[in-house]
Amino acid sequence: MTNRIAFLNGQFIKEENAFLHISDLAIQRGYGIFDYCRTSNDIPVYLDYHIDRFFRSAELMHLQLPIAKPEIISIIQQLISKNVIPNSGIRMLLTGGYSPDSYEVVRPNLVILQHPLHLRPAGLFEQGIKVITHEYVREFPGAKTINYSMGIWLQQKIKESNAVDVLYHQQGEVSEFPRSNFFIVTKDDVVATPKKNILQGITRKKIIELASNHFVVEERIVTLHDIRTAKEAFMTSTTKRILPIVQVDNAVIGNGQPGQIAALLDKILEKEESVLLQ
Ligand SMILES: Cc1ncc(COP(=O)(O)O)c(C=O)c1O
Repeated sequence: MTNRIAFLNGQFIKEENAFLHISDLAIQRGYGIFDYCRTSNDIPVYLDYHIDRFFRSAELMHLQLPIAKPEIISIIQQLISKNVIPNSGIRMLLTGGYSPDSYEVVRPNLVILQHPLHLRPAGLFEQGIKVITHEYVREFPGAKTINYSMGIWLQQKIKESNAVDVLYHQQGEVSEFPRSNFFIVTKDDVVATPKKNILQGITRKKIIELASNHFVVEERIVTLHDIRTAKEAFMTSTTKRILPIVQVDNAVIGNGQPGQIAALLDKILEKEESVLLQ
């Protein structure tokens, strides 16, 4: 049992009473979009960017948001003061809505939830992670849809491979992880990240901005071959910030240790966030 408050279609209610009907297209067809933002000491981090992307995803998926951006911001502020969870994740969810024939979109349902969140597990950054690869492109790469079927289906293979995540590629051109973006650092200290078939991650955007002050940054095609010759690799996301990658399939990256540039960029991002939150 939780005392948390959720927002559902215009009302603040106890999360334990927040239900959607089984006719929702999210349940019937897996149709819907969401976005996910972090709060630190009760302040939402990069909230504007997350809300902009939420609206972009909705538009791409032909779903109409029932309220405007300032109202969403106000609801999130109210949730933050009602729930008192200083370090949290805020999930904004827009489903396909209740459909008379389990296919037609009529009126999407809007849900906003807040949960406690702890940033990436302790020790993982210092150790770095192993990932495997899989040939796949998400159906609507530009949208943050609720469809994570491939990522969830691959969990078994990831565990059997003693890995932590899976990097998608198409004919050797890598794109993203199910829930994170991907970067390499070349032998010449160029920071490169895939440009095609990706979700425009907010952390990716910040890393590109911040890294550009120190390094050459390229948004371009990154191949599996590029990874084998890279000095460093790392993933970025709201919940992990930066996580170094030390092995991709059987290829050890650089010297097999988390890279110095990944560590530097993580510090720079943390600093930028702390200034923002003051
Ligand atoms: C497919 C995909 N790529 C990348 C990301 C990382 O985006 P962000 O940095 O905005 O969390 C996510 C986030 O969940 C994602 O779902």
